[in-house]
Amino acid sequence: MSKALRDAREYEETTETKMKTKMRPAFHLSARVGWMNDPNGFSFYNGEYHMFYQYHPYDAHWGPMHWGHAVSRDLLHWQNRPAALAPDMDYDRDGCFSGSALSLPDGRHLLMYTGVVQCSLPDGSYKDMQRQCIAVGDGTDYVKYEQNPVLDGQDLPAGCSKSDFRDPKIWKEKDGTYYCVVGNRPADGSGQILLFSSQDGFKWKYDKILAANNHRFGKMWECPDFFKLDGKWVLLTSPQDMLPQGLEYHNGNGTLCLIGTCDETTWDFTEESDQAIDYGIDFYAPQTVLSPDGRRIMIGWMQNWDTSGVHPKNEPWFGQMSLPRELSIENGRLIQKPVWELYDLRRNEIKYENVEFTDAIRLDGIEGRRIDMEINIRPRDKESIYRKFAVRFAQDEQYHTAVSFRPYESVIKIDRKFSGSRRAVIHQRRSRVNSKNGSLKLRLVLDRHSAEIFVNDGEHVLTAVVSTRQEAQGISFFADGWVSMDVVKYELVM
Ligand code: FRU
Repeated sequence: MSKALRDAREYEETTETKMKTKMRPAFHLSARVGWMNDPNGFSFYNGEYHMFYQYHPYDAHWGPMHWGHAVSRDLLHWQNRPAALAPDMDYDRDGCFSGSALSLPDGRHLLMYTGVVQCSLPDGSYKDMQRQCIAVGDGTDYVKYEQNPVLDGQDLPAGCSKSDFRDPKIWKEKDGTYYCVVGNRPADGSGQILLFSSQDGFKWKYDKILAANNHRFGKMWECPDFFKLDGKWVLLTSPQDMLPQGLEYHNGNGTLCLIGTCDETTWDFTEESDQAIDYGIDFYAPQTVLSPDGRRIMIGWMQNWDTSGVHPKNEPWFGQMSLPRELSIENGRLIQKPVWELYDLRRNEIKYENVEFTDAIRLDGIEGRRIDMEINIRPRDKESIYRKFAVRFAQDEQYHTAVSFRPYESVIKIDRKFSGSRRAVIHQRRSRVNSKNGSLKLRLVLDRHSAEIFVNDGEHVLTAVVSTRQEAQGISFFADGWVSMDVVKYELVM
């Protein structure tokens, strides 16, 4: 084991014992120590789910990238394993960037990641060289492949960037062929996803451009994932530098889901529709795994690059993953639902039916910061649809975060401007949702520092980190006009 990896493992072990775990998210995986970004190597191996992540153990801010590691049997109770990769070789000395994992037929666990080396240019500036590398291990210890890198600039056709060439997502087809998709930039500075294949998972060759951005959705496309779902093929990617298109995308680093068909002999991908993956503030770089029972499960980084730098220097940890979400396609849209394992954490049901109200109300027992709550609303009178409905949570006399819905526009909004943030960063997002005659179904999952809002059984999801002090446990409801509401709330207990 290299000194860099041994140091990281020692550091995380000794630092962790000094940290208070009480304030951590309970069932969302968070950085063991220091900084976490993208999910990496999300896989099922030797009877457990493995989640690796972009990791800088020494600081709660981004730095030389390692891979952190945790395992789980139910995707909710996570156990840390020692750091898996450190930037310790000539070909990855400036970072082990994002990548993926799978099981090899001989029982070993293969990781494929991007090795980064910064080269200095004559004008004194630096440029990344990014190439794809492999490490193989047993679920705890990983050894980098002696023939790394397995894909580098020389494998790329003319015009493909050698410095934006990252985030391999690997999978194996039924005929035994391995494939991977990698994010890249063509000469026009837009984004594209490249497809590579391999017979053994070690020796790779370039196949084709699977999908091209052509300046439609942001610029560089990061962290691709490509899989079959409900008879379609789905390409997930996280574009940088996006511009909003109505309420569909938002500025900055966003998420994109392209649904289409794919000829599995020529790998011609024909796009049929596009949508954002998440419509909230904090969701990026998601990765999926196929569970042993055939579910396609996705987890994203529950953060946003534009705001992730705005937190105190001395925090002991920073960064958490989203809930694991089961994906499906209905009516050409990507549907996301919390995995069924979350039901097992539900305790202490509090239920109200047909609560008719206008103005603001609270309901006995409806409160908490680690809860799963389902809300169904409709107008009290069919002839007169209310103008606005809102649920406020993480609330005390001073603070709250709100989800509101205006039926005439059919727009839902998450707003955390009163959550206690003292910075001028983005605090709101809107999304157009489906609603007939003012009825709407919401599911709100809170886990101390976050809120995930599933609209109409997962047709739209809005995710946001909420850093309000934990004493703010209140929940209240507001209606402009008369609303009839059913609410059921559970505590989520580990
Ligand atoms: C996406 C990303 C990846 C890269 C990693 C570096 O969030 O920029 O493209 O591999 O983060 O930490």
